[in-house]
Amino acid sequence: MYKKIFLLLILISTLSCNKDRKQIELKKNVDSQTFAKINKAKITHLIWNVEADFERKILKGSAAYEIENNESTEIILDIDGLKIDSVILDDQEKTQFTIGDKDVVKGNPLAIKIKPETKKITVYYETSPDSGALQWLSPEQTFDKTYPFLLTQGQAILTRSYIPIQDTPSLRITYEATIKAPKELIALMSAKNPKEKNDSGIYRFQMPQPIPPYLIALAIGDLVYKPFDERSGVYAEPGLIEKAHWEFSETDEMIDTAEKMFGQYPWEQYDILVLPPSFPFGGMENPRLTFATPTVIAGDKSLVSLIAHELAHSWSGNLVTNETWDDFWLNEGFTTYLERRIMEEINGKDYSDMIAVIGYQDWQTALSYLPPKFTSLWIDLKGENPDDASSDVPYEKGYSFLKMLENKYGRQKFDEFLKGYFKTFSFQTMNTTKFIDYMKKNLTDGDESFVQNWIYETGMPNDYSKSTSARFEKVEEKFNQDLKLVQENKSNQISKNENWSTLEWVHYLRTINPEEINRSTLEKLDDAYHFTDSQNAEIAAAWFEKAILADYEKAYPNLEKFLIKVGRRKYLEPLYRAMENSGKKELAVKIYEKARPGYHSVSYRTIDEILNYKP
Ligand code: BES
Ligand code: ZN
Repeated sequence: MYKKIFLLLILISTLSCNKDRKQIELKKNVDSQTFAKINKAKITHLIWNVEADFERKILKGSAAYEIENNESTEIILDIDGLKIDSVILDDQEKTQFTIGDKDVVKGNPLAIKIKPETKKITVYYETSPDSGALQWLSPEQTFDKTYPFLLTQGQAILTRSYIPIQDTPSLRITYEATIKAPKELIALMSAKNPKEKNDSGIYRFQMPQPIPPYLIALAIGDLVYKPFDERSGVYAEPGLIEKAHWEFSETDEMIDTAEKMFGQYPWEQYDILVLPPSFPFGGMENPRLTFATPTVIAGDKSLVSLIAHELAHSWSGNLVTNETWDDFWLNEGFTTYLERRIMEEINGKDYSDMIAVIGYQDWQTALSYLPPKFTSLWIDLKGENPDDASSDVPYEKGYSFLKMLENKYGRQKFDEFLKGYFKTFSFQTMNTTKFIDYMKKNLTDGDESFVQNWIYETGMPNDYSKSTSARFEKVEEKFNQDLKLVQENKSNQISKNENWSTLEWVHYLRTINPEEINRSTLEKLDDAYHFTDSQNAEIAAAWFEKAILADYEKAYPNLEKFLIKVGRRKYLEPLYRAMENSGKKELAVKIYEKARPGYHSVSYRTIDEILNYKP
């Protein structure tokens, strides 16, 4: 009898113990976007060896890995659309592998049979022509229009579409690579880079600092290099190099400024690569080599906050990395905050204030169309594609959260906190819980009263302090004067001697309310300022959106040209959305069918969704 009760007690206690364990596990950060189980066997170093075949639009070769094996008999890699030929263990024998069922978000698991003592694996494979990461550009899509171009975009979960890998930001690996490119072109990576073309077309790379797989990057094109100083410079096509060099000439000053605030620059070299305009992002923080859209080359250095942003990722994101995509705000919110601090130092507070106001407006717009579950800082992405959840929220709500902390605890204390954070977690990953813990110990003296509201709740927190800009108030005044002149039929008296930055023009255009302003008013403003013909992508995009909403058809031919040339999703999204929402679906589809073949998968996936377009 007693024995039975005793056994029952043991049973109950194990059951409840298991239950506890389960709860803890549930709270633990898990990367739901990978098949890899890195606690069993993990990659520590990648040796990548491929040839770029521009005819077939594929990469073909091998990826070898040094692994840390926890006596496991299997290692699982992520792949998406790769053709796997064979797998070799320790340079000696073939081994078995199986490719599991395809998941719409994650792709397929590649399960490789290994031995407990296996140290090295080599996978022979090739990519498919529609790899999500790779974009193969025709010569017409480049600036000089002479040679084709290849670029990769790994973030968030696209690296697996061109390299079999444990594609999780919680992993850090070093890498080396040998890339065979067509002889007329040069290859560049997020690694130690060549400064000149060679005659063989074969380029070797080393990345000695450990990085998460989403930061592996490759570009192949007709590119030349021009330095700013010993540790930084710019790559661009020959026809664009001088303009690019002039535009980004403040880069070395930005690095010095950032180092003073956040600690030593940890990657030795900082270069910028100017890509063709179909690159789907403004910038991508590939370590040692920021990838940048040419649409930031405005001719007046007015859009270089983008460089400040990508440079800032050298600390927030690349040095201290979000552990899963649920923690994405730790990368982008911090970076947005650091970007504005750098810009405040370089261009003054009145300037960084304008950037903050624009950012706040973007956040509000995002709140108006996003599903509420994507409006908290920490997001549960189980079953979701992280790309669908990526919006201005992690950037702007994240920025506002850190700004709130700065205001509350003072800039000096906050700066010390930031520096300590980057130093303590250098070359490590960070998750939201770990961050809160560190913040309580090192900044807020245990106070976490605002954590729930800011980090886990959706929508706007109520203790948000709104950014304001004195320079924008002037812009609004001028806008109202102009409008009055138009309404009084005196638009020829509009004065045009404003010496405004791009930001001020963008604000001017954002002040237009298409519900109140008709197309003849837009036409008068266009006559005065020639917005339709603007060569500044930021101004053009802001203008075209209003033109669409007010049926200002005169702008449509240039709108079409813009959408065919530029593939930056940030511009495409609002423009196609505006057409869709204002009954111009036909126009949208007509343009999209011409433009889509020139877009990267990141961009066309988003626009397919907005237009409900099935190719
Ligand atoms: N890392 C991002 C780009 C990104 C985000 C790629 C999510 C894939 C998934 C990059 O640092 C970025 O934020 N770029 C911005 C520019 C910036 C100034 C806000 C962009 O491309 O517009
Ligand atoms: Zn960023």
